[in-house]
Amino acid sequence: MDGTTYLSDYRPYPFTLSTVSLTFRLAPRATRVTARLALSPRAAGAALHLDGEELKLISLALDGAALAPADYRLTETGLTIHPAALPEGPFTLETEVEIAPETNTALEGLYMSKGMYCTQCEAEGFRKITFYPDRPDVMARFHVRIEGEAPVLLSNGNPVGAGDGWAEWDDPWPKPAYLFALVAGELVATQGSFTTMSGRKADLNVWVRPGDEDRTDYALGAIQRSMKWDEEAFGREYDLDVFNLVAVDDFNMGAMENKGLNIFNSKLVLASPETATDLDYERIEGVIGHEYFHNWTGDRITCRDWFQLCLKEGLTVFRDQSFTSDMRLGAVKRIEDVIALRARQFREDAGPLAHPPRPDHYREINNFYTSTVYEKGAEVVRMLQTLLGPDGFRAAMDLYFARHDGQACTIEDWITVFEDASGRDLGQFKRWYTDAGTPHLTVTETFENGTYTLEFTQDTKPTPGQAEKPPRLIPIAVGLIGPNGDEVVPTRVLEMTEARQSFAFEGLGAKPVPSILRGFSAPVVLERQTSPAEQAFLLANDTDPFNRWEAGRSLARETLIAMTTGAAPDAEYLDAVGGLIADEAADPAFRALVLRLPSEDEIAQAIAASGKVADPDAIHAARTALMQALAARHEATLAATYEACAQPGAYRPEAADAGRRSLRLACLALLGTRDGGARAAALFDNATNMTESLGALGLLVAQGKGEAALARFRARWQDNALVMDKWFTTQLALCPPAEAADRAARLAEDPLFTWKNPNRFRALMGGLSANHAGFHRADGAGYRFYADWLIRLDPVNPQTAARMSTAFETRARYDAGRQAKIRAELERIAAVEGLSRDLSEMTARLLG
Ligand code: ARG
Ligand code: ZN
Repeated sequence: MDGTTYLSDYRPYPFTLSTVSLTFRLAPRATRVTARLALSPRAAGAALHLDGEELKLISLALDGAALAPADYRLTETGLTIHPAALPEGPFTLETEVEIAPETNTALEGLYMSKGMYCTQCEAEGFRKITFYPDRPDVMARFHVRIEGEAPVLLSNGNPVGAGDGWAEWDDPWPKPAYLFALVAGELVATQGSFTTMSGRKADLNVWVRPGDEDRTDYALGAIQRSMKWDEEAFGREYDLDVFNLVAVDDFNMGAMENKGLNIFNSKLVLASPETATDLDYERIEGVIGHEYFHNWTGDRITCRDWFQLCLKEGLTVFRDQSFTSDMRLGAVKRIEDVIALRARQFREDAGPLAHPPRPDHYREINNFYTSTVYEKGAEVVRMLQTLLGPDGFRAAMDLYFARHDGQACTIEDWITVFEDASGRDLGQFKRWYTDAGTPHLTVTETFENGTYTLEFTQDTKPTPGQAEKPPRLIPIAVGLIGPNGDEVVPTRVLEMTEARQSFAFEGLGAKPVPSILRGFSAPVVLERQTSPAEQAFLLANDTDPFNRWEAGRSLARETLIAMTTGAAPDAEYLDAVGGLIADEAADPAFRALVLRLPSEDEIAQAIAASGKVADPDAIHAARTALMQALAARHEATLAATYEACAQPGAYRPEAADAGRRSLRLACLALLGTRDGGARAAALFDNATNMTESLGALGLLVAQGKGEAALARFRARWQDNALVMDKWFTTQLALCPPAEAADRAARLAEDPLFTWKNPNRFRALMGGLSANHAGFHRADGAGYRFYADWLIRLDPVNPQTAARMSTAFETRARYDAGRQAKIRAELERIAAVEGLSRDLSEMTARLLG
């Protein structure tokens, strides 16, 4: 039916596949791929279907004999061999096909990036390489021979032979085709090694194009730290003789966990102080960890089908978050993750694209590599850890690895492991995987005769295709603070299972102030009527760092919302922040987070959630005014802190240094409203690292004073693609909103706008859509420009075009005029002839 795939239609593959032998003869326009598959039927009478797209079939033989045309059927999507042509027992099928990596602009399958061959097979790219059962529950051992002129020829597993113009690789671990990888080109390696806990030595290589090798040290160290951490935190050891990581410039996503041969977007590998920001360093370490951790959660244990994607992604994001938390400042990492979750996943859940972490249907699986599958998937794992406690969680993980190693699993398998390890029934908990939408939690309190009672109500709005939302199991971590600021009840996890439920705390001398949802113990929206005074009290006294920050955040959000309709900034908020700026007892990174105001998009989301219409111009004005008010009130403290955070000496990416730079830039952003940008201009002139250089540039741009600095920046970095991406993004995201659409149109004419490169496309379009009031300019200029480019990109790279269309998912927040303009653009895209399956699924869902 209409090309939709349903979870309920899952059937096991009727054949088993033990080994695969692949030979590649590389040529840009005519690569030959032969595949020898050792198959055996599970039951008699089944046809053999192999997926295949855009393949030119050269030959086809069964057990050495060519098949007659009557024995098989070839279509746009694959090759089917009639049951009558198949033997009853095991057999070998050999195919040869021809493909053209050079013309593959979709960057899926085998393609070329700057003269180098590389692959991206997840989710369904392997079918563009050869005819194959391209589904994750078919796992086989791969042997690969590569013939080509390139000096470096890589594939999965261990090297088993090489000579002039060829190399062979053997992967001892059975795997699905989506984990296959091949890289060939002129590459140089930064080498290291790691000795595992049982004493095995693995060689490590970070492969880059010549010229980039001076920016690879950090990546190599991150691999070593990841390997060590997975042994310590999860008892997981690396299982091959060599671990290769390759950086490529043209890549649709962040990175890919192919067995033993991780392929990365170069922006998540290359770093030097001059070219990478603190955030880049943190992301590089986190994503290297993420892909490495997939070796166990993804590769050794994979997914039965693509509906189970969050089985590996949610879990692996949880693992990389825990890793970063241990490498850096845990409390700060948790706050950053929640900011990102709300910005992306809550936004997704509140709109037409809402779907559960485990969806039950899709047209194009690439459209489901979403924040819900990844980040909400990680929150669900985190809740399991909260419910079981650290030891119970580790025991369940040990059981998961022991029970399912080598298998392709489901969410049901996963839940069963946690039930068996804990002895609990997790039937209700499972709704977190199957139900879409963000629960809203309201709470009221009473205090009587020393008993303090919290009454919670949970409510989740309908989402597309899911009208009913039964109550979920919500772990609510709560602590109580006495009037003098001392904690009177330490953190306790309340397990809410009903739609409405009360929890009592007895024997209290005075009415406490509650600290609810500590550490953000569940991905819900907490709605609580409190006074600014109480929020300020928590900001000063809460022992839970997340909720301490959260108190300041709520104050900021509420005052900003009030300011959009003309209120003055809340005095309580201004005072409370002042107390923290110079509080030496608080970590600089934490203070920076408190100083950073909610984004305009977050404010729009909050206004819409309360049933009102979000006005982008009023939101921008309110946010600007609050920055001015904070700066006016605390100018001297900000200036002193700005000076105190200067760090003479060499740049180090460590969290402590990064935290001071972050506080320094947060102060600078506010001070800019007082000094006319003088400090930012001075910092831009003198900065010796990209964090401060780019930070200063952005502030100048925001003040409408960026032109000279932008020109200097461009002249200095025009040959560095990753830095130029920042140049595009920063000026669009931060320029005064009225000029954003025109600036975007001008930049699209820049010869450096090489739009077929996904990083560059995202840099420009993502910069525009990040400029909230600019993208949502009332006359629709931002929407029109954006839609024009999605239409242009779609035939070239449908995956990236579809992903970028999510900029339109917030339509319902705005006034009728804007809504109509967005709808018209979506209809215009939907009407394009030959639109990809990727983008047509997205526009259909966005139009609702
Ligand atoms: N598994 C990869 C990761 O999470 C993402 C690859 C997704 N690629 C795609 N084309 N959908 O690290
Ligand atoms: Zn992943």
